[in-house]
Amino acid sequence: MPTLTSPSANVAASELARVADLFGTGEAINVQARPLVEELEPISHVLARGRYQSPLRYPGAKSSLAPVIARVITSAKQSREVPEINLLVEPFAGGASASLRMVGEGIVDRILLADADPLVTAFWQAAADDTERLVDQMYDEWNRYVRDGGEAAVERWDYWQAWKPRSNITARNRRLAAAIKCLFLNRTTFSGILHGKAGPLGGRAQTSDYPIGCRWNPDAIAERLRYVGHLYDVGRLVDVWRKDWRQTLDDVPEHYPQLLPSRVVAYLDPPYVEKSSVLYRTSFDPRGGYGGDGLGASRPSDDTLHLSLADYLRTKAQFRWLLSYDSYPMLTQSAWLYAHNRMTPSALDREVLGVRSWRISKRLVTTRYSAAGRVGKRSADELLITTLPPATVPLDEQLRLP
Ligand SMILES: C[S@@+](CC[C@H](N)C(=O)[O-])C[C@H]1O[C@@H](n2cnc3c(N)ncnc32)[C@H](O)[C@@H]1O
Repeated sequence: MPTLTSPSANVAASELARVADLFGTGEAINVQARPLVEELEPISHVLARGRYQSPLRYPGAKSSLAPVIARVITSAKQSREVPEINLLVEPFAGGASASLRMVGEGIVDRILLADADPLVTAFWQAAADDTERLVDQMYDEWNRYVRDGGEAAVERWDYWQAWKPRSNITARNRRLAAAIKCLFLNRTTFSGILHGKAGPLGGRAQTSDYPIGCRWNPDAIAERLRYVGHLYDVGRLVDVWRKDWRQTLDDVPEHYPQLLPSRVVAYLDPPYVEKSSVLYRTSFDPRGGYGGDGLGASRPSDDTLHLSLADYLRTKAQFRWLLSYDSYPMLTQSAWLYAHNRMTPSALDREVLGVRSWRISKRLVTTRYSAAGRVGKRSADELLITTLPPATVPLDEQLRLP
């Protein structure tokens, strides 16, 4: 059994910060914590209740689980303990499909997105804070390279794969370029995979019926980017943080103490226990998932990170959380993970941090998803684990006991 803390985690964090600086991604869009807009206007955008709102096609995206998460959160809001949710924090945001849906439907008032991958956070920060320039660049890439496909488009794909930021341009321009790299590769690469190990859609010879531009609908992407910009402008998207999950969970109570204990909830969707290293640039797996950041073996091992997440959530989380995982037996069976039904903070953390001892509920949900490299949809079981009030967590055919 690996230990619960790893000295190499700090090395990884400082390395991540170095790579992030290169990409012009700050730890947040705003140097100071962005104050919450008090008087929120209703969201006046056609996409607010749209089926697809994320501009990214993210591997492992939670679009099919999002309605179930919405149900669990809505049910929790019927209780005295959680009458309203002023902020939903997503520390493993990726394509952020669940958060975008929750805020669009008015289930939560605001969202805060965070991810450790500097390319992904450069994208969300630019979409929020530099929207029109990102929209222009997106159209430019489409008109000049992607629309006509063929060799020129594959050459452009190679260009973005190899692209490294120059240090002699402003941080804002570096962030914009990193954002367009993220969007370009996400839209033109097999399954939206960003870490450089998957090839361009349609193959290098572009002889397939699904060429490189088949997932790039410029008007739909522009509308989704503008939706993100709108959410940011009106204070519904509070900020985008480039942080490790632990930093995000530590910083929310620092920046928004007025929301503790029950007006802020975290939705956590960590990399899968299996296969994450082939899907994400930043996975919990040192053997390859970090492709882009070059950290390789300096990373703590996958199991260590899953264990430290469980340990943190059981003993240190200062606000309620909802966690989704691939249903992997270790997650419910291991005494080190989520076998306990109660959070177990130390007396000191209770006193100093105000950590509560909420009860933990678990449910299994069957979802349908599109698997990389396969035609059609497959079913998979997902595990939901939460400290939302147990009496409110539905228990029926859709949300079963594990
Ligand atoms: C399963 S994906 C999230 C998918 C997302 N829920 C969606 O619907 O698109 C996991 C995400 O965690 C991020 N990640 C990996 N390790 C992390 C860490 N230590 N801290 C924060 N984010 C991390 C990855 O970059 C990836 O975007």
